[in-house]
Amino acid sequence: MAFPEGEDALLTYNRIYDRPPVGGQRMERKVGWEVPSDEAERARRIALNAGVLDYGFHPIHQQGKVIWPLNEMVNVLFGEIIQSNFEARIELNPHQRLAVELPDVELPTKWELLDDLVLLPSDSFPNGNDDTWKAVCRALKVERVGRGAEIDSGPMRQSRAEILLGSHGWVNHKENGIRYVFDASKVMFSSGNITERRRMGDINAAGDVVVDLFAGIGYYTLPILVNAGALVVHACEMNPDSIDGLTKGLVANMVMSRCHIHQGDNRQTASKLEGIADRVLLGLLPSSTYAWELAFNCLKEEGIIHVHMNVEQQELDDGTFVKETLKSFEEMGSEVKLLHLEDVKSYAPRVRHVVLDIEVRKL
Ligand SMILES: C[S@@+](CC[C@H](N)C(=O)[O-])C[C@H]1O[C@@H](n2cnc3c(N)ncnc32)[C@H](O)[C@@H]1O
Repeated sequence: MAFPEGEDALLTYNRIYDRPPVGGQRMERKVGWEVPSDEAERARRIALNAGVLDYGFHPIHQQGKVIWPLNEMVNVLFGEIIQSNFEARIELNPHQRLAVELPDVELPTKWELLDDLVLLPSDSFPNGNDDTWKAVCRALKVERVGRGAEIDSGPMRQSRAEILLGSHGWVNHKENGIRYVFDASKVMFSSGNITERRRMGDINAAGDVVVDLFAGIGYYTLPILVNAGALVVHACEMNPDSIDGLTKGLVANMVMSRCHIHQGDNRQTASKLEGIADRVLLGLLPSSTYAWELAFNCLKEEGIIHVHMNVEQQELDDGTFVKETLKSFEEMGSEVKLLHLEDVKSYAPRVRHVVLDIEVRKL
């Protein structure tokens, strides 16, 4: 059912949702608002703003009138409230719901859902106001709205996101059965690392003593404790906001007793952890090189290191990244075996975030 652009007052609405009637659609008798066709768009906006338009159902168009489906009985200043049989719509996706709620503005095409908070990209809704954020909440079925800002490029990678609707940025975000707790206005959460978080829960770390040199809110500390069976994790972290989140996350996942947090710069704190680890995590981007020696020193006589790095595609293709990394650890005085190279995600054009798993045996 195509309306030429500009011809129908209900165009935005119809274009997105109307479709040729299909037999066997679910019908429901419910309350509706009957108005003359030339008042239909005005009525739709009133019902929408009042939060009573039920867009789970199609409006009825008949004999110069439109009947809007409502989700509750209301008083109206024009038209009539009547009972009608409405045809149920196919389930709308979140992009479609946004377009219904905010028909006249440029919409973001992606966002991050964290608990009951949506984090919009930094360039979304530059002229947004409270009504915009409420409409976003209705469309995306969340309670709070935040807008990202450029992640600070310093080592703490702080978020600086702005909370536009809601009184705080704390979220308790569940992923693969793990709860990550953090203040999204202070600490960034990289959704793109999801596969690596899952992988860290899938490895066999049963009984391992683990040192996480860049623990953050526990991207890897938590799955290793909850799902991979680590005996204990020593979590080094210097950002107090991340430590706050990590502490709450350990409680939320009931693994508090198996994690020791070492607050401060790991160049100082890791000196207490020499020779104790079966496994060391080096989750710092864009490069973890300065901490390679710290990681080596933390290991027992032998163990595994997970080296995170951003690497040029070319150096992955020609093997130089793997070769040079193994060589660096050999030069510290060890035999090194390549276990696995994990391709996590794209970081920039032709730059990959990878994790190199290596087994190190000290000589
Ligand atoms: C890319 S984030 C890692 C994300 C982390 N895996 C998580 O779960 O949030 C790097 C983390 O390392 C911390 N960090 C960076 N340099 C550090 C240092 N020298 N000592 C301790 N922590 C450091 C930052 O504060 C940040 O939380």
